[in-house]
Amino acid sequence: MDKPFTIEKVADFEGQHVTLKGWLYASTRKGKLMFVRLRDGTGIIQGVAYRPEVGDELFETLKRLGQESSLIVSGEVKANDRAPGVPGGYEIGIEDVTIIQNSEDYPITPKEHGVEFLLDQRHLWLRSSRQWAIMRIRSTIKRAIIDFLDNDGFLNIDTPIITPSAAEGTSTLFPVNYFDEEAYLAQTGQLYNEANIGAFGKVYCFGPTFRAEKSKTRRHLTEFWMVEPEMAFYDLDDLMDFEEAFISYIVRETLKRRRPELELLERDLSMLENVLPPFPRISYDEALERLAKIREATDDPVLKEELAIEWGSDFGSPHETQLTKQFDRPVFVYGYPTQVKAFYMEPWPGRPEVCKSVDLLAPEGYGEITGGSERMSDPDTLIAAIERHELPMEHYQWYVDLRRYGTVVHSGFGLGLERTVAWICGIEHVRETSPYPRTLNRMSP
Ligand code: 4AD
Ligand code: MG
Repeated sequence: MDKPFTIEKVADFEGQHVTLKGWLYASTRKGKLMFVRLRDGTGIIQGVAYRPEVGDELFETLKRLGQESSLIVSGEVKANDRAPGVPGGYEIGIEDVTIIQNSEDYPITPKEHGVEFLLDQRHLWLRSSRQWAIMRIRSTIKRAIIDFLDNDGFLNIDTPIITPSAAEGTSTLFPVNYFDEEAYLAQTGQLYNEANIGAFGKVYCFGPTFRAEKSKTRRHLTEFWMVEPEMAFYDLDDLMDFEEAFISYIVRETLKRRRPELELLERDLSMLENVLPPFPRISYDEALERLAKIREATDDPVLKEELAIEWGSDFGSPHETQLTKQFDRPVFVYGYPTQVKAFYMEPWPGRPEVCKSVDLLAPEGYGEITGGSERMSDPDTLIAAIERHELPMEHYQWYVDLRRYGTVVHSGFGLGLERTVAWICGIEHVRETSPYPRTLNRMSP
């Protein structure tokens, strides 16, 4: 059987008579010509109906057809440089149309709608070209992540969603009633990954992650996807080498496979083409010096105020934004103060107030897209950290065991999928990168 026609593959069908099954995205009329934009899920293409050819009846029917009507169109594929669409450059000379359903009063019209309205209509909004493009890019980024890791000797091991303990701080836990015992939705799979490397060497988990984030920002969701690679015998430098190769691959693959979608989003591709190793690596201390210089140089009192920071504090988004503006590609910031990071990070040799952590900050103000570290490998250091953080030791015995039976230097990180998609797509808010976003005030549709 011949391959069925899809808009995505339109170039393979030039000059052929095809059948397109899909939806009416928009239409305009110029006298005897009717231009329709058709969607089939894989792309958008212009269809042209010429009244003398299709006949009065069909022409009149097309005229009355509402946005998002479902239909089957047959016609000839013709090259036309000026034909709009994704991928574009082709149109269909309409010969016949079967209407499946005439859709009336589709709520999302070409006029401007507020974002809350659109989020209420998320089940339909996903059909809009911009949302459609973002989801296609998201899918490609996921594929690139998996391909890179699978080709690099990693084993994919799933980690539990229901967990008895916190790994990334107790303030963002989602409680679950587990047969009258308190449990939580997983904030990370990392601790299990650390067990898994003892069995498999290099592993990753990739799945939904939950944090009861009580703040509304453009970077936080309460349910998001995180890929977490974890590697035995990797120290902090090995980790950064790995991350820059990984991120560069993801961006390259997206550029290769999703150019029409990136163009639809009007993404500045030169910023993505820059994403090649090596990425700059600066310590937290150096980052503070850079921020102090930016503060000195600015006349803007608001910026001066926002950038004020004492050693020992975590960066807020203004700090990350200003730092990343100094570089044309992602930048590593390593060696954060121990007090702002999770309990499991290896202390810096001779400087216990600093830990072997590293965040990767994306350029153009996107900020943190990965967080990782070298992990504590000594059992006594780890036990002391668990006590210092007042975590219930009974739930961490197994985690301490990993340091008792063949401990090794090891490192890993988590990459937030939605933040990565937002950065690569060049869009403002992570809510558009999740098909059905969950935030402080939204969990439907
Ligand atoms: O920096 P985080 O909290 O690191 C961890 O969870 C580690 N256990 C990962 C590891 O080492 N295996 O989160 C990692 C990344 C962040 O850099 C960010 O991209 C994303 O997860 N992230 C969020 N994305 C959207 N909404 C949120 N509320 C997020 N919280 C973290
Ligand atoms: Mg982090």
